[in-house]
Amino acid sequence: MGLLNVNIDHVATIRQARRTDEPDPVWAAMQCELAGANGITVHLRKDRRHINDRDVRLLKDTVACKFNLEIGMDPEVIKIAETLCPDQVTLVPESRAELTTEGGLDCAGQLERLTETVKRMHQKGILVSTFILPQEQHILATAESGADAVELHTGQYTNAAGDAHIVKHLNALRDGRDAAMAAGLIVHAGHGLTYRNIHPVARIEHLCEFNIGHSIVSRAVLVGMRRAVEQMNKLIRQPL
Ligand code: PXP
Repeated sequence: MGLLNVNIDHVATIRQARRTDEPDPVWAAMQCELAGANGITVHLRKDRRHINDRDVRLLKDTVACKFNLEIGMDPEVIKIAETLCPDQVTLVPESRAELTTEGGLDCAGQLERLTETVKRMHQKGILVSTFILPQEQHILATAESGADAVELHTGQYTNAAGDAHIVKHLNALRDGRDAAMAAGLIVHAGHGLTYRNIHPVARIEHLCEFNIGHSIVSRAVLVGMRRAVEQMNKLIRQPL
């Protein structure tokens, strides 16, 4: 059964809409944890469009469950991760123009840089995961880099229209899981997962962690963070 990490970036997005101090993602993290989240995920982007340095500092000090920090392979942000020492770093591609993380990390194309980053994180005792499309070359490159895990990008599945496409992308996730496990990697999944589309993914065995953000924060606006997290946790634990 997979565990739920709640991505609270969009709590900070609401705060930044007014450049004020509420809602505080640190308070949100506490609510997620009280509701049974296994981990808290935030993305410290280079442009600090939502989560900022103060947030990651306070989250590091207050989150008692797993703290998963998403970062691009940018020298300044890598240094921050090294100093902060979250439980886990998830390496993601990052571009300024995107609304959210688009595509997966090109692990095969930047193996040297990836290996160096993994080495630096491991020296600080930080687990490393790479956010990738479920493609063999990136899975193998992740394993070669010495990283611990892959997060399979579920976006192609969540965007798929029509049964044939949905089945195709679920199969790609299963194949990706098999290849990753054969390479000795732990397998996570995330992106675009919602209360409506989580079931088939939650039924895929050996996906250890789900990182889910937008859908949970959206529901939390209407029902409260604790109920939103509890409802998603239930769907992951007892998929239809
Ligand atoms: N996993 C990764 C690596 C991400 O970058 C994101 C988005 O920040 C998510 C999961 C969560 O995606 P969503 O907000 O669509 O649930």
